[in-house]
Amino acid sequence: MSDVYLNGQFLPLDQAKVSVLDRGFIFGDGVYEVIPVYGRTPLALDRHLKRLEYSLNGVRMPHPLSSEAWATLILELIDREPSADQSVYVHVTRGVAPRDHAFPKDVAPTVFAMTKPLSPPPAAWIRDGVAAVTHDDFRWLRCDLKTTSLLANVLLRQLAVDAGATECLLIRDGFLTEGAASNALVVLDGRLLAPPRNHLLLPGITYDLVLEAAQRHGIPHEERPVAEAELRRAEEVMLTSSTREIVPITCLDGQPVGNGRPGPVTMRLLELYQEYKRP
Ligand SMILES: Cc1ncc(COP(=O)(O)O)c(C=O)c1O
Repeated sequence: MSDVYLNGQFLPLDQAKVSVLDRGFIFGDGVYEVIPVYGRTPLALDRHLKRLEYSLNGVRMPHPLSSEAWATLILELIDREPSADQSVYVHVTRGVAPRDHAFPKDVAPTVFAMTKPLSPPPAAWIRDGVAAVTHDDFRWLRCDLKTTSLLANVLLRQLAVDAGATECLLIRDGFLTEGAASNALVVLDGRLLAPPRNHLLLPGITYDLVLEAAQRHGIPHEERPVAEAELRRAEEVMLTSSTREIVPITCLDGQPVGNGRPGPVTMRLLELYQEYKRP
């Protein structure tokens, strides 16, 4: 693995060490971003940095670096990794302090970043679609923040793995929120429906890019609550994320979605996304 970045230094992964008193370790008191890179160029970097700022503000953490400094650091990491396509991970915690829930005073945040090669989703996922299960969304009420406190997401994603599925779609009070590690959109009566951006889901960058592509190319779409019953009778369901792009879900809780094959809207959006990511 190429060098990682920790608190101002680039160094080999096995030399990057953090104190056990780091609040990221003790409380999951941190935020993060994952930025896809294609042909050595980060995709929508400004949007990821804006969302990082939003997450930092949301958890009342000072900004450790300016947008320019983040961009410099990310480009340096990309330069050090041989693969042209990468996924860059950046992570900020509130820093190292004696264990106490209250914010410590005068503590420097821990800033960590790494990158790794990024492969496109397996061809079979696109050809046949993937299976998903559903579960009650038992996460907290600030899912709009990209925090490292991901235990609920971990448990929910594992339910999918245990069921031999790729993703767990989450239902809160009878409505679809998102996936355990992705956004979820559906096509109902030929219309692309996206659960609205609010505190119950992450404002996904891919979700935004998909809706913008739909807007540009005249694909009927709407951001509105999606009832569980609508999810279950949708013609198409798809997940979106920076590392998995757009993946058709063709089986939900053991039942076929629509005709059980990836649908035309999903495939069109995927095509538009491929054009967008490599201009
Ligand atoms: C819970 C959750 N929702 C949505 C997303 C998709 O966001 P993005 O498209 O910005 O990767 C992710 C990405 O990992 C996620 O973890």
